[in-house]
Amino acid sequence: MNIPSRPRRNRKSGVIREMVRESRLPLSALMYPVFIAEGQGFKQPIASMPGIFRWSPDLVMEEIRECIALGIRSFVLFPAFPDEKKDQLASLSADPSNFYLQTIRAIKASFPDVVLMSDVAMDPYSSDGHDGLVRDGKILNDETLPILARMAVAQAEAGIDIIGPSDMMDGRVGVIREALDDAGFTEVSIMSYTAKYASAFYGPFREALDSAPRSGDKKTYQMDPANRLEAIREAELDEEEGADMLMVKPALSYLDVILTLSEQTHLPIAAYNVSGEFAMLKAAGQNGWIDYRRAVEEVLLSIHRAGARIILTYFAKEYASWMRDDAK
Ligand code: PBG
Repeated sequence: MNIPSRPRRNRKSGVIREMVRESRLPLSALMYPVFIAEGQGFKQPIASMPGIFRWSPDLVMEEIRECIALGIRSFVLFPAFPDEKKDQLASLSADPSNFYLQTIRAIKASFPDVVLMSDVAMDPYSSDGHDGLVRDGKILNDETLPILARMAVAQAEAGIDIIGPSDMMDGRVGVIREALDDAGFTEVSIMSYTAKYASAFYGPFREALDSAPRSGDKKTYQMDPANRLEAIREAELDEEEGADMLMVKPALSYLDVILTLSEQTHLPIAAYNVSGEFAMLKAAGQNGWIDYRRAVEEVLLSIHRAGARIILTYFAKEYASWMRDDAK
């Protein structure tokens, strides 16, 4: 048969398929989220996230060392505080003696080459469990901003490399940038949670940190899952306000948003492959309903192909160990 154009010719062998492959996912694109809690000598499992733990600061050092040996170089740290330390103003968030800031210091002292990213939002420290300040059931935008700015500067003082505002208040990137610059931290980067949706896929994370809102939901600040154009508006603002990298979150249900933003901006795009996305594949894999490794690789590749240069993912450590095993 005369069929002049035959796409299958470019698929005829493994060597050719590799030659024409359009995207590859290097380990250097992955950031590994790590949960820490105050205390000593524990590694608490999280029921809905098999293989992920809440680490005490002493043991997390070993975990980081193990990840570095596997080739992972960047980490996103999240703290879990007990309820009795939380208050309405998230006061603990800027206290240099809190274990989160102490752990950032300790990790940077032992492993100066790793890149550490923080989370800036009130929820882990707030008795209301919201990312912003709550008064009469309302989340106050402008009153939240100085609290976030103080939190960010305290994290910079502890040695953080990248500030990650995840709160979705209006104007926060600009206010944080100015506060960092005023304090002399011109080299500390901001990866903004630019398009962060009010998603059902954060459930396991909130269990891990016990950070669910005590009342109401997050829909007046996190974005409506139905909206794509609004993400462009958020991206334009974050860029103007001085963000260095823009993040879309969650990743898998928002591949169109990742693609849109990657075509809109010259800034690097990151995507957060969130806890619920991890839990789904884990559960299906543990039940033997899917080929876990192939499904994980396909998901991560799809996020990368859509335009995310950086992926925050709980799969990072497994992915790294698969790559190591393949290289043997
Ligand atoms: C908190 C924050 C959340 C996540 C990252 N930072 C939860 C939320 O907004 O309720 C979710 C991450 C995940 O689900 O893996 N500001």
